[in-house]
Amino acid sequence: MKTMGTLITLIYVGLAPLSASHASEVGPRLYNLYCATCHGTRGDGLGESARLLAGPSPQDFTRGVYKFRSTLSGGLPTDADLMRTVRRGIPGTSMPAWAGILDDTQVAAVVAHIKGFSPRFATRETSEVIASPKTVPEPTVASIERGRNVFLLMKCFLCHGTRGAGDGPDAPALKDARGLRIDPRDLRRGEFKGGGAARDIFRTLATGIDGTPMVAYFANPEVLGRPLVRLRKAFSKDVLSHRALNDQDRRRIEKFMADLPSASKFDDMEEKQQEALVRGWQWDLVHYIRDLAGRGSWWRRFLGLTPSRPLFGAGKEE
Ligand code: HEC
Ligand code: HEC
Repeated sequence: MKTMGTLITLIYVGLAPLSASHASEVGPRLYNLYCATCHGTRGDGLGESARLLAGPSPQDFTRGVYKFRSTLSGGLPTDADLMRTVRRGIPGTSMPAWAGILDDTQVAAVVAHIKGFSPRFATRETSEVIASPKTVPEPTVASIERGRNVFLLMKCFLCHGTRGAGDGPDAPALKDARGLRIDPRDLRRGEFKGGGAARDIFRTLATGIDGTPMVAYFANPEVLGRPLVRLRKAFSKDVLSHRALNDQDRRRIEKFMADLPSASKFDDMEEKQQEALVRGWQWDLVHYIRDLAGRGSWWRRFLGLTPSRPLFGAGKEE
């Protein structure tokens, strides 16, 4: 009971009304109270609880490398990005959601404090924000099917496995930028650290998860469009011959490739048309990922840990 009392006192202290005059003290105070135990008083991710946690280690803020951003890969996150992460937490990890405990002013104060740990934020470096498209096309059985082909052709299966279970041939050897082992996600679990709405997943695929082997795939239409169309033969050869794929997958990919416009036809299109085509494949891939998310085991669905299928619609963004 004594610990309970201390906890309540701590929470009370944390929530005590803050006057603007000592706003600069609020960030460090809340940080030391709530965050330092995992992220360390110096922000190096070496808090006293860090060793005891299951799952990924707490972020080392001194590096200034952030996983969840709306900015180009390698860029700094915006304040809104950091506030979103702090408010909703990181699903599937020990990083809690602080929305019910800290109000927006307090979240902003703690975010300002975190930024102080890395000299990168003090420079004039600006990071280009990637805007997610506003409208999400309705997923269909056909778009999910196309998305699966894009998933295989883009070689997502090397890490995530051909069924999205996180068991691809390259999975066992993956390390993050700190040299720590990192698992590619089992995409059937429906746990999305960067948010599970269609536009959230689009953003994650556009920005990449910095500091991990999960790079940015949508940042630039070249990354998706050109290889699929221009180099379709060379591009598909090493995929089609990969031993991880079965014959059914191969037949599907071949059919998908046969339906793609030829390189010369693609070049003749107006830029807007090309963009629309590539955008379509991007959404197909997002829809496939969200459809996979409903395929966890029955007991996870039963316990409400996995959303039930099919995940149609765009999903709720936070
Ligand atoms: C119980 C441990 C724990 C506590 C307490 C905690 N965090 Fe975290 N936090 C983590 C872990 C673990 C990660 C890394 C998750 C990952 O890499 O997937 C993380 C990551 C983060 C990130 C990085 C997101 C990114 O884009 O890379 C931010 C920002 C963050 N935490 C802020 C906070 C703030 C602010 C507090 C206090 C209000 C806090 N955390 C408290 C465990 C914790
Ligand atoms: C080189 C290995 C690798 C490849 C290739 C790869 N991923 Fe990942 N992916 C990862 C890792 C590792 C993570 C987990 C990152 C983390 O938890 O911090 C991840 C996470 C994800 C997530 C979860 C995002 C979230 O919000 O939690 C999605 C979705 C995803 N990948 C989709 C894809 C798609 C689609 C492709 C192909 C276009 C792809 N990945 C290719 C390694 C890879």
